[in-house]
Amino acid sequence: MWESPGGGCVTCQHGSSMYDWQARVAKRRTTRERNSDPKIPSHARTENSDERRATSVELRASSVTGSSIGARELWRERWDLRSSRFCGCPADRCAGRWGWRVQQQVKMGPLTVAPMGFGTWAWGNQLLWNYEPSMDAELQQVFDLAVESGVNLFDTADSYGTGTLNGRSELLLGRFIRDFQGSESKKNRIAIATKFAAYPWRLTPGQIVKACKYARHFPIAVGSLGRLQLDQLGIGQLHWSAANYAPFQERALWDGLVAVYQEGLVKAVGVSNYGPKQLTRVHSYLEKKGVPLSAVQIQFSLISYGPDQKEVKAICDDLGIKLIAYSPLGLGMLTGKYSASNVPSGPRGALFKQILPGLENLQSVLASIAKRRNKSVSQVAINWCICKGAVPIPGVKSLSQARDNLGALNWRLSAQEVARLEEAAATAPRGMIQNIFQTS
Ligand SMILES: NC(=O)c1ccc[n+]([C@@H]2O[C@H](COP(=O)([O-])OP(=O)(O)OC[C@H]3O[C@@H](n4cnc5c(N)ncnc54)[C@H](OP(=O)(O)O)[C@@H]3O)[C@@H](O)[C@H]2O)c1
Repeated sequence: MWESPGGGCVTCQHGSSMYDWQARVAKRRTTRERNSDPKIPSHARTENSDERRATSVELRASSVTGSSIGARELWRERWDLRSSRFCGCPADRCAGRWGWRVQQQVKMGPLTVAPMGFGTWAWGNQLLWNYEPSMDAELQQVFDLAVESGVNLFDTADSYGTGTLNGRSELLLGRFIRDFQGSESKKNRIAIATKFAAYPWRLTPGQIVKACKYARHFPIAVGSLGRLQLDQLGIGQLHWSAANYAPFQERALWDGLVAVYQEGLVKAVGVSNYGPKQLTRVHSYLEKKGVPLSAVQIQFSLISYGPDQKEVKAICDDLGIKLIAYSPLGLGMLTGKYSASNVPSGPRGALFKQILPGLENLQSVLASIAKRRNKSVSQVAINWCICKGAVPIPGVKSLSQARDNLGALNWRLSAQEVARLEEAAATAPRGMIQNIFQTS
């Protein structure tokens, strides 16, 4: 358990949680001692508070389902509740429940990651995300909180950062890792997933190696590892495929991935914006070269869940590749804070005006599930991705968003809730626009 300088819970900032926590531990110990007393018959043994909660979840759910439907979910929810460590803070939305058991962590090739990562596209992007350097101190806090909470996957790219801020997201991550003051073991588990842009001048495998270690592009003469101040990346990913417009470049990009893997510059490799056909091709090419494809990143959310996403997910499951869900909040449309009459400024506003009017049904289902579960709308939208077997990487711009999104962990929507959300999403006349480089 950690305390904020003010003495409260470091995640939800709630008052004297250390006191609450100690009281809970003391109570648990008493329960354990009591239960291990051979004089107490088994029927008289008391459950600890987590177990009581789990039982009540089960009873509530079974009274709704009335059958064995969703028994697996119930078991899983019960298990999650038992295995989570509570910060002791009474605030229900507190994200301080962490310490996932091995069963809840996710294997991504050789990496072990939390069921959710954080995306950092906004960290340096002024055009779409209104980034200002004055946000950096808070972004460091966002990073620290995530790492302390067990979130260890951070997604970035060598093209993130607009204009002279190009590379800013990687630079900030490098600085935040260096300045991280928390637990060394948590710091060692950080996995940075960056993406190499398929720029038209990257025509040879060597260009990808350079991009990884020491590309000579403005504003600084280093590649991703230099900006990140790291010797090795968690995952090196191709940001997009050139197959749609420069197929001759595609093989060089694939060989570039092979080279960075063989040189030990990355622990694992991945691709992004690859559709089912191109994914199967790149997988079999890399397999022949002895390079396992560990991750595929596509736009995957309640408003980006069509036949292609389903097919990519099925291929991932077949081939043992982990699906990373980018834009899981639909660029903010699934947070509940925007409506047709209240859209963000800039290019996002124009997009939201086209899509949001058709999302009323989905938004009301999201809101009703969130209310019933005492969760936020964002937490429900992110949790849906986790329930579909993907690792969502929501973008976060502030500490309050980070805290909120951390509350998407350690619980699961029921199968019925997942189905309700998908039914509501299917009524939307138009879904999210897809990345222009997305292949079939
Ligand atoms: N491979 C690719 O081509 C690709 C493409 C896109 C994204 N990505 C990756 O995926 C990550 C996530 O996607 P994304 O950033 O595009 O979109 P997203 O995760 O769907 O939405 C993120 C935005 O929603 C708002 N938000 C987040 N949490 C919130 C909360 N709890 N409450 C209220 N608002 C909240 C914030 O914007 P506002 O506060 O401004 O509304 C935030 O920047 C990116 O950062 C990037 O790493 C990859």
